Amino acid sequence: MRMVVIGLGYLGATHAACMAELGHDVLGIEIIAEKRELLAKGEVPFYEPGLPELLERHIQTGKLAVSGSYQEAAEFADVFFIAVGTPQKKGEYSADLRYVDAAIDELVPLLKRDALILGKSTVPVGTAQRLAERVAELRPDIQVEVAWNPEFLREGFAVKDTLHPDRLVLGVFSGGTAEQVVRDVYEAILNEGTPLIVTDPPSSELVKTSANAFLATKISFINAIAEVCDAAGADIKAIADAIGYDARIGRKFLNAGLGFGGGCLPKDIRAFMARAGELGAAEALSFLREVDNVNMRRRTRMVELAREVCGGSLLGSRVAVLGSAFKPESDDVRDSPALNVAGQMQLQGASVTVYDPKAMENSRRIFPTLDYAASALEACVDADAVMILTEWNEFISLDPARVAAVTRKNVVIDGRMCLNQTEWVRHGWVYRV
Ligand code: UDX
Repeated sequence: MRMVVIGLGYLGATHAACMAELGHDVLGIEIIAEKRELLAKGEVPFYEPGLPELLERHIQTGKLAVSGSYQEAAEFADVFFIAVGTPQKKGEYSADLRYVDAAIDELVPLLKRDALILGKSTVPVGTAQRLAERVAELRPDIQVEVAWNPEFLREGFAVKDTLHPDRLVLGVFSGGTAEQVVRDVYEAILNEGTPLIVTDPPSSELVKTSANAFLATKISFINAIAEVCDAAGADIKAIADAIGYDARIGRKFLNAGLGFGGGCLPKDIRAFMARAGELGAAEALSFLREVDNVNMRRRTRMVELAREVCGGSLLGSRVAVLGSAFKPESDDVRDSPALNVAGQMQLQGASVTVYDPKAMENSRRIFPTLDYAASALEACVDADAVMILTEWNEFISLDPARVAAVTRKNVVIDGRMCLNQTEWVRHGWVYRV
């Protein structure tokens, strides 16, 4: 099938390449010229395992092309995926929908025939309805159907999550024909037995925001229990393992530590709260404010812990920060808890040296005043404290003896509770979480 994917960021580039992998003919639309040039060469402007190979392959097979022209998009196909970003508005909690609105306003006037617009971006409930009205206003002469098909991919697993998702969700207005098109688009995925939940657009929008709110709540729940553990001298990991065996609870997303960050969970729970407020249902989601608070306290607590191990003041201390991406297998530093902590420690007078396997360039761009090292060991030279703030395998497998040979003091703060404590202690390290 021929299809267009509008917006080639994390979501759109992955979706476009994966649709080509499923055998479709895909035109990706990206308005930023530099991004377009990279993608057209089969290069990905961010780190996502497996994506460059897929992209390059399908640029070469001709199944995937990249353009900046909405005119070309309108001529190319009758199925359009909207995959543009919906960031948090500056100084507000709500989502900024300007890119979604712009995609519709640019595309729809150029359409030649009846068309289907499938939204993939994470949007506040009610957006599909508003866009459907806008589309009908713009083009009373043709049938342009709007439906929502939210995406649940995780960074670092984006290709796998797109080609083998847990479920597919589609929100259609009554009388719409989107379901059959979507069944054809995802035929190979549905043939694997993947469930497809067909519902109305507001429900499909809420599926996505509810899923992210639940995940964020799960992480903050275990981090709140971690606070109690600190006070009671109990072991949060043992608790997570023990409660995680209960199939109703599950062990996933119960890793206590520095908490969640990234381009999705923080902004999505805030936009969800803002939208509930607009709908007069603010009280229903007031617990998400506490979820956010618990999460932010993890960062403050991490800085306090660093201050404590450095003898009560960070002034003049040298701290090695290992990991700056918001999670491993990603170079994304948007709302990165690790970089946030690094920045706060520097403000308190510490000399902070950061190393991350993939996120150095992005980190330097937003925190140019931190020091950056070329390797984990180099970052640890003369350090008074070593902090693991992103759980990359490279850090989990660090040799505590080799690190001890270069530091000034042997104090490690395991911000992601990922190290083998016994091993580190055996090599003379003071281990703190
Ligand atoms: C998330 C959702 O998982 C995905 O379904 C949605 O489409 C987009 O948002 P992503 O932002 O890629 O995906 O990251 P995710 O793997 O969910 O991790 C989010 C944050 O939570 C990271 O900072 C991670 O370090 C943290 N986290 C995760 C924890 O602190 N503890 C955990 O147990 C799990």
